[in-house]
Amino acid sequence: MIVTFTANPSIDVTMCVNRLELGGVLRVTRSLRQPGGKGINVASAMVKAGRDTVAIAPAAQHDPFVALTARTGLRLRTIPVDGAVRTNTTVTEADGRTTKLNEPGAALTETVMRALEAELTTAASAPATKAVVLAGSLPPGAPADWYPTLIRALRTTCPEVLIAVDTSDEPLKQLGEQVDGAAPDVVKPNAFELGQLCGRDGAELQRQAESGCFEQVADAARELVEKGMSDVLVTLGGAGACLVTAHGAWHAAAPPAQVRSTVGAGDSALAGYVLARLNGADFPDALRHAVAYGTAAAANPGTESPSPDDIDLERTLVREL
Ligand SMILES: Nc1ncnc2c1ncn2[C@@H]1O[C@H](COP(=O)(O)OP(=O)(O)OP(=O)(O)O)[C@@H](O)[C@H]1O
Ligand SMILES: [Mg+2]
Repeated sequence: MIVTFTANPSIDVTMCVNRLELGGVLRVTRSLRQPGGKGINVASAMVKAGRDTVAIAPAAQHDPFVALTARTGLRLRTIPVDGAVRTNTTVTEADGRTTKLNEPGAALTETVMRALEAELTTAASAPATKAVVLAGSLPPGAPADWYPTLIRALRTTCPEVLIAVDTSDEPLKQLGEQVDGAAPDVVKPNAFELGQLCGRDGAELQRQAESGCFEQVADAARELVEKGMSDVLVTLGGAGACLVTAHGAWHAAAPPAQVRSTVGAGDSALAGYVLARLNGADFPDALRHAVAYGTAAAANPGTESPSPDDIDLERTLVREL
């Protein structure tokens, strides 16, 4: 079983327009409403791969988020909250450019946070649980170092479980600062987030990657491995991804695809990586799965996650750095 934890879930609305004109009145050619938040996206890819998955999130029982999630077949465990689940809006233009408008989310109280922690450690301690994915931003009210706190609790109650984290900004910086006893097994920054973790210029790391040079990305990721993080999976958009572990460094190039919406591509990449690791794949093969999953997600509209039939492993090429 896989457990995903989404402290700040969302209803993701994707609107397709030909071209976004600020100040204009636009016709929406297609719109989608999906349950969202990074942990929900990861869980939905896991379910499509046939893995028993539980997604934990704060939400009121009658929140539309709960019904939307139920429709996807995902097993959701909610802790009731007063506020409504936020709406995140993505506007996708015909040329593939996306603009995102994310609400902050309902504030969590101490009581809700303790209940979420208890739900997480209970689900993670179930004998069948192999991995926990902590993903996304933290809502108002949650301390910026909540992820390290949760990891320490998980390491105490279920030390065998693989822990993966995907977050950004202050919660990510805290993760980088509090590695003692709280280092995740897998961390999945994109280039900008890697910059936040290492105090480097993320835009420059991305530019380097796009020009085919992965040494700076690998060096930054190596710093994190030296600090105690095990698998550092750095996704690089259309430039694929790098994986650095104590055993080596690799790059995988994205396979050819028609890109429709890159929103949530990183979540699918993380799902692909964790799925492969749980299936016993070695590091280069797990990286291949991450990139194949990410690119398959980018080829889907909205935040729709791919199924194993959608991924192009054969044309996802991995090389050692
Ligand atoms: N333009 C693209 N063309 C091909 N593949 C892409 C493209 N953008 C993303 N991908 C695939 O998706 C993976 C993850 O993408 P990216 O690095 O953009 O994640 P991210 O920034 O974490 O995204 P998000 O947080 O919105 O999910 C990449 O490693 C790649 O495989
Ligand atoms: Mg991401």
